[in-house]
Amino acid sequence: MTVRAVVRGVGHYLPERVVPNAEFESFVDTTDEWIRTRSGIERRHFAAEGETTSQMACKAAEAALAQAGLTAGEIDAVIVATSTADLTFPSAATMVQDGLGMTAGFAFDVQAVCAGFVYALANANALIVAGQANRVLVIGAETFSRIMDWSDRATCVLFGDGAGALILEAGTGTGEASDRGVLSTDLNSDGRFRDILYVDGGVSTQSTGHLRMEGKEVFRHAVEKLAATAHAALGKVGLTGADVDWIVPHQANLRIIKATAQKMGVPMERVVVTVQDHGNTSAASIPLALSTGVARGQITPGQLIVTEAIGGGLAWGSVVIRW
Ligand code: UT7
Repeated sequence: MTVRAVVRGVGHYLPERVVPNAEFESFVDTTDEWIRTRSGIERRHFAAEGETTSQMACKAAEAALAQAGLTAGEIDAVIVATSTADLTFPSAATMVQDGLGMTAGFAFDVQAVCAGFVYALANANALIVAGQANRVLVIGAETFSRIMDWSDRATCVLFGDGAGALILEAGTGTGEASDRGVLSTDLNSDGRFRDILYVDGGVSTQSTGHLRMEGKEVFRHAVEKLAATAHAALGKVGLTGADVDWIVPHQANLRIIKATAQKMGVPMERVVVTVQDHGNTSAASIPLALSTGVARGQITPGQLIVTEAIGGGLAWGSVVIRW
């Protein structure tokens, strides 16, 4: 008998304000056409004034709990993947814990930028397999609108806000790739590339800072590393792209998503794409896409799902799940 971390429910939350590409034309030198053709993005959501990452995370968590038919009291760990927590401390996860009315269990944040949700899922899986938690609420939530430089057209048009949540629950399997649950994970980082995507501020430099990115360089790494990590995760359980029902990629750029799918030999009909509606929501993008894929009726129980993401660090990785 093998312990498996099985998906019990998903949910998401998007702030009310939708910002179409055309809105950026009024304050930076850009066009709807450029943004669509270079990134695939058509619109994104921005948090309201005063709306925080942990508030959005709570709403996504409530939706996932409702779908799972569980109460917050039945969860024993909360992990929030975010680079834009409300406060320096405590963690967004403890705020979610309190927001949901939980008074037991444990909670912590994971900071791996756009790869954060993949890292959080891998950690949740490890906690369950090690017997340290039975039900883990894994959330990706971000307010990247707070760290944009609104005069930098090369970055401010790309990002959005939102939150997605997924509940993993301990179950059993045979140890075969036919089991439901997380089947394999592959995590990587390489700090030599920290200067191509970063925020130029933080607590010890006494400022919040703004996101800075060498887009072309990040693009080059993404195309090379995403297919490699997905192949590595699949290979650990003897699977290939041909076995995949859905790739659920980090939603940064439609051209990266297409190139990765092509390298994996998976047609675009089997890729969940939400970048046009959400923009790049960093750690929130994969759970938002998973929840959207389920709501659209694309993702159904028993299917093989591969998630993959890359972001600041660089940090990248992949998780293979049988839904
Ligand atoms: O989530 C973390 C991971 N992040 C990513 O995966 C993002 C990776 N990078 C990308 O998605 C792409 O590199 C971008 C969408 C950021 C940019 O696309 P690109 O095809 O690499 O364009 P570029 O940076 O080479 O810029 C091409 C041109 C430049 O003008 P020149 O030098 O050719 O005259 C830019 O100045 O487009 C210009 N440009 C813009 N033009 C209109 C840059 N931003 C804009 C803009 N509107 N918003």
